[in-house]
Amino acid sequence: MSHMKLIDRHNRIAKYLRIGVTDRCNLRCRYCMPEEGIDFAHRNDILSYEEIIRISKLFSKLGVEKVRLTGGEPFVRKDIDILLSSLSTLFDKVHITTNATLLSGYIDLLKNINVSGLNISIDSLDRDRFFMITRRDSFDVVMNNILKCIELKIPVKLNMVVMKGVNDMEVIDFVKFGLHHNVEVRFIEAMPFNDDDGNRDVYMSAAEISQLIATTFPSLHKLIADGSSSDKYTIHGRPIVGIIPAYSRSLCGSCDRIRLTPQGEFLTCLYAQSGTNLLTMVRDVNVSDTDIQQAIMDSVLQKKKSGFEEEALINKNAFRSMTTIGG
Ligand code: GTP
Ligand code: 5AD
Ligand code: SF4
Repeated sequence: MSHMKLIDRHNRIAKYLRIGVTDRCNLRCRYCMPEEGIDFAHRNDILSYEEIIRISKLFSKLGVEKVRLTGGEPFVRKDIDILLSSLSTLFDKVHITTNATLLSGYIDLLKNINVSGLNISIDSLDRDRFFMITRRDSFDVVMNNILKCIELKIPVKLNMVVMKGVNDMEVIDFVKFGLHHNVEVRFIEAMPFNDDDGNRDVYMSAAEISQLIATTFPSLHKLIADGSSSDKYTIHGRPIVGIIPAYSRSLCGSCDRIRLTPQGEFLTCLYAQSGTNLLTMVRDVNVSDTDIQQAIMDSVLQKKKSGFEEEALINKNAFRSMTTIGG
């Protein structure tokens, strides 16, 4: 196809685009947003599907091979099946990160487009604790949908945000669940999301998480880094565990990820305070595809060496909710 590449000053090639399709969500996970939600974007201020497709075509020309739809919760956006179908014709690999509450109506579609994978967020295997963390009583529907996907052989990984004193006592249960159902379980460091104490009091590091698992499973063995966002581990030789150093950021050196937010900002890092506004560009009749492509390439050239360098530029430590960025 194309020979163009999005390469930065540290010789990393961006091949993986995360597209946040909405900042809205039907859950209210405590580590992500307050009960009343956040100040959600208005319809006109988010990219339309036509606009997302136009921009995605340019990313495809620029060498992006894999896209992941994120949110908020991608399936709360109306007619998401239309976007998924178009993206599946543009990219080899289409993945989705979802809370799985709304999956049941989309299983046929996911099979039809041959979705490359679903990362499903589930932070507790206990109904009451799930309710406490997400503020919604959706455990049964989520678990049923997870089991349905496994049964239908849709590639699934589970994402658990580990919080000390909140759900860390379930880490071993999650590993056992992974071993039993033969699915990869990824443990994520809780990232701060606002300017006060958000998540700092419950933070558990990747190192602490791996030590905790090794206590029960001494065969835990770390594999050589493969450039993805997680460190991968085997247990009894099986690749079941992933640990994502979202806050300790030990994997920035091989980062191949770039982001398009619901509001059309192009971000080269999860910790980026701001990025290139592609929404205004696509809505300006005087801006051509070539101009947008150039803006994307210029932006990638400015990508910082690590999330720490980006964080240093954030005003007064006010981290945005991940739902506005897409994680
Ligand atoms: P794979 O494609 O399966 O590797 O997925 P992923 O881990 O990139 O995506 P997912 O949406 O499941 O994200 C899981 C967690 O990893 C979220 O908390 C993300 O914020 C975090 N994450 C993903 N990419 C990065 C990154 O570049 N930097 C940091 N610090 N965290 C990331
Ligand atoms: N810290 C770590 N992970 C988070 N996620 C959402 N907010 C945070 C946070 N503050 C996770 C979700 C989902 C993934 C995309 O990001 O649980 O699995
Ligand atoms: Fe929704 Fe995901 Fe935020 Fe939870 S973490 S409130 S599922 S966007």
